[in-house]
Amino acid sequence: MSKKSVLVYGHLTDDQLAALSQDFEITQFSGTDLANDPAFCEALKEAHGLVGGGLSITPELLDAAPALEAIASISVGVDNYPIDELTRRDILLCNTPDVLTETTADTGFLLIMATARRAVELAEFIRRGDWQKSIGEAQFGIDVHGKTLGMVGLGRIGAAVARRGALGFGMKILYSNASPKPTLEAELGASRCELDELLADSDFVCITVPLTEDTEKLIGARELDLMKPTAIFVNIARGKVVDEPALIAALRDGEIRAAGLDVFEHEPLPTDSPLLHMSNVVALPHIGSATTETRDAMAQRAVDNITLALKGERPISLVNEDVWSNT
Ligand code: DGY
Repeated sequence: MSKKSVLVYGHLTDDQLAALSQDFEITQFSGTDLANDPAFCEALKEAHGLVGGGLSITPELLDAAPALEAIASISVGVDNYPIDELTRRDILLCNTPDVLTETTADTGFLLIMATARRAVELAEFIRRGDWQKSIGEAQFGIDVHGKTLGMVGLGRIGAAVARRGALGFGMKILYSNASPKPTLEAELGASRCELDELLADSDFVCITVPLTEDTEKLIGARELDLMKPTAIFVNIARGKVVDEPALIAALRDGEIRAAGLDVFEHEPLPTDSPLLHMSNVVALPHIGSATTETRDAMAQRAVDNITLALKGERPISLVNEDVWSNT
């Protein structure tokens, strides 16, 4: 019997590729515009599995892949997949939760610290040769410890950020979340409140909600206006959760103090974005989970997911459970 075909368009280690090749016919792709890559479109016709991240899967792309059984995304976020459409077509969608939680929370805290202490701006200051005398008030930052951290979303990653804040920095934790989290409330002394209250009372607001129809542009001009003028806004979720022009205006007009951003409305961030020219913005190129250890672990989870799925076994991390329960 011929092996099932798997298209790989994300980074796997040599060992992971070798392991996959034992069970499946592997074709590797790279490039930034796969949907318009004739070789990829041709390979889709026979593909049973996809392993990768970043590619927006459209219904048209699925039409071109009639044999597709499963997709193993190398990401926890699945906002670039038409989940209902995949379910309707009985295609399993798998992701990589858990293995990236702590690393992504580290990125969140990196942005909290870097914005509060103006680390990037002052690193540029010294590099320019501007450190000619002892620094003064013009270079002062603000404290992180003991402040109020407002978590918009308290899922796995949000909880890990909040844990760092509460246990490492003695921060008071507010959170807004669809459901209460009594265990975290007991562990961290966290208090659940409405989003508006969180925005008004927090010194740091950190976004960790997934991008869905409900969370798109959750933070707009009105919400930014509710924040303290001294507050810092951090986003490690998805850029589209925020109305980016409204955020730019709030930063420019001093409605908030600073922003630490790992995600943007359009990625890669256009080089003419005003965000790149604001000294009160720390911008990172979506590095949330980007460490060698964590990306390898995510790739391994994707390899395990696709292997199980294409062998008819339940993948470890399944997004559209309905497909599995209907088999
Ligand atoms: C994720 O895993 O969702 C990260 O944001 C990378 O896309």
